[in-house]
Amino acid sequence: MSFSLEGVGLDLGGRPVLRDVTFSVAPGERVVLLGVNGSGKTTLLKALDGLVVPTAGRIAYDGAPLEPRRLEEPAFRRRFRAEVALLFQNVDAMLFNPSVADEIAFGPRQLGLPGVEERVERWAAAFGVEPLLDRPPFELSGGEKKRVALAAILAAGPRVLLLDEPTASLDPASAARLVDFLAGLADTTVVVSTQNLSVAEELGARALLLAPGRPGLLHDGPSAALVADERLLVESGLAHRHAHRHGAAEHAHFHVHDAE
Ligand SMILES: Nc1ncnc2c1ncn2[C@@H]1O[C@H](COP(=O)(O)OP(=O)(O)O)[C@@H](O)[C@H]1O
Ligand SMILES: [Mg+2]
Repeated sequence: MSFSLEGVGLDLGGRPVLRDVTFSVAPGERVVLLGVNGSGKTTLLKALDGLVVPTAGRIAYDGAPLEPRRLEEPAFRRRFRAEVALLFQNVDAMLFNPSVADEIAFGPRQLGLPGVEERVERWAAAFGVEPLLDRPPFELSGGEKKRVALAAILAAGPRVLLLDEPTASLDPASAARLVDFLAGLADTTVVVSTQNLSVAEELGARALLLAPGRPGLLHDGPSAALVADERLLVESGLAHRHAHRHGAAEHAHFHVHDAE
């Protein structure tokens, strides 16, 4: 399943959030979306999920325009919702079932998929939430909620994963497990946002970079090249340069501050 964006602009509250964004994602490709707070990562992922509508330009899904009129057609809507899953940055907005088991079963039941019990077991195990299956999601920690939300969307078998800062609030072992899981996915198209430079390369070999108030993408290419490009990291706000005194000598250092 592919996406193609051409000159996408999106205003929110009368202010431009995305301007002139152009890129394509091939079926099965894994792309990491980088940018500081307010650079438009969440807005872009919501636009790919059809939840917000561009004010300029075009988004195509699988070769055909992704527009409100088409999303209102029941057959396309059902297909699109079955194929494309968005992990919200704020997972509280996604969890509403009385137990973790019901939360994971919800998508498969809605879609009428077979083997709901097996799916719950498999995906609870994949994200290490088996001990939480009888708990109400609202009382879990931030990281636990995120793992439950991931299990819930994957249990429904999506072909496209849109993940909004999935490693934020995960402990290092859970984050590593997620990275390994994503690396092992075949045939799933993934767009994953982060502001954590230290996981960027592991999340995807190709990186897209947004910066607040800047049109277009500041980078669309290998993640390794972006992570090595100090000038671009400073320019986009993902790293900054400051001077330190070491005894009599003053040195300039680049600092990368991981927000997670
Ligand atoms: N509903 C909204 N109304 C007005 N402005 C918004 C709204 N949602 C987001 N914004 C603004 O859009 C910009 C981009 O936000 P967002 O897409 O959440 O960026 P990121 O996910 O990279 O932090 C921010 O300046 C934010 O304040
Ligand atoms: Mg965001």
